[in-house]
Amino acid sequence: MSTAGAYGEYPAARPRRLRVTPAMRRMVAETRLHPAELILPAFVREGLTEPAAISTMPGVVQHTRDTLRKAAVEAAEAGVGGIMLFGVPESKDAIGSQGTDPDGILQVAIRDVKSEVGDALVVMSDLCLDEYTDHGHCGVLDEHGRVDNDATLLRYAEMARVQANAGVDVVGPSGMMDGQVGVIRKALDAAGHQDVAVLAYTAKYASAFYGPFREAVNSSLKGDRRTYQQDPANAREALRELALDLAEGADMVMVKPALPYLDILRQIADASDVPVAAYQISGEYAMVEAAAANGWIDRDRAIMETLTSVRRAGAGLVLTYWATEVAHRLA
Ligand code: PBG
Repeated sequence: MSTAGAYGEYPAARPRRLRVTPAMRRMVAETRLHPAELILPAFVREGLTEPAAISTMPGVVQHTRDTLRKAAVEAAEAGVGGIMLFGVPESKDAIGSQGTDPDGILQVAIRDVKSEVGDALVVMSDLCLDEYTDHGHCGVLDEHGRVDNDATLLRYAEMARVQANAGVDVVGPSGMMDGQVGVIRKALDAAGHQDVAVLAYTAKYASAFYGPFREAVNSSLKGDRRTYQQDPANAREALRELALDLAEGADMVMVKPALPYLDILRQIADASDVPVAAYQISGEYAMVEAAAANGWIDRDRAIMETLTSVRRAGAGLVLTYWATEVAHRLA
């Protein structure tokens, strides 16, 4: 038993023993980060001759075709697991035509990156219309201006085909249309792309933290996405979306945003038998960068802490704008 002290017994259990030295802390750490589980989201904009800064995401740019290639090589050399590509077209219209043009910027970028890095990185593409529509919604609109679910599915099927034809390894449907995973899977299979995987944005919330992304893709959205993205108040529908996505053939599932939804991440991870990803989104990035720029938090520690928390909550994969930097730091 413990020794008697002036104020009663000394504690028998001293958890602090396992925190005494860095070596001890390192040895008993339950969660470790590895570059291979990180995925770098990257923007490429048609017609650029120089990379364009994104003011709300200091350190992130809209790439030219050329600088995107270089960023992909750098990520691969750092050991990053994958890259998620977003295209920003020069012209937008009501149905997002550039999203299904075989020579649209995203398809061109997929070919560029694949030919540059081959299989050294898993190449993924955002499969959504909001980067391509002049109204900024993730789907096509009906005559009342509402997002038309099933008409949008037809556009997504076509997007899946052109992205797969361009050589992408994984498509990431992010529009939250009902039935999107099933339609995309069938479209891919029918076109002979059985090996192209689907990373489903399963639990995607209508979040204020997407703000900076809207600048990153020159979005013209007015209003919000609350008729298709999930209500931040709800957890149960995330599990329903998971069941549907798995039944429709999702190969991997994702929770997004990450940090405000760690409870959802844990529930999805516990209920899922496929790999689970989390997307640390633009607003999460911006929050840390802005506070750090003001000297209010320790940037590097905050980055590692958020990533560790997301992994601890159950994500096996993390999409983060810091992927390459963190991969270098882990080396
Ligand atoms: C939709 C899409 C969005 C993001 C990824 N895919 C924007 C949205 O749903 O409003 C956000 C990513 C980020 O904020 O970093 N194509």
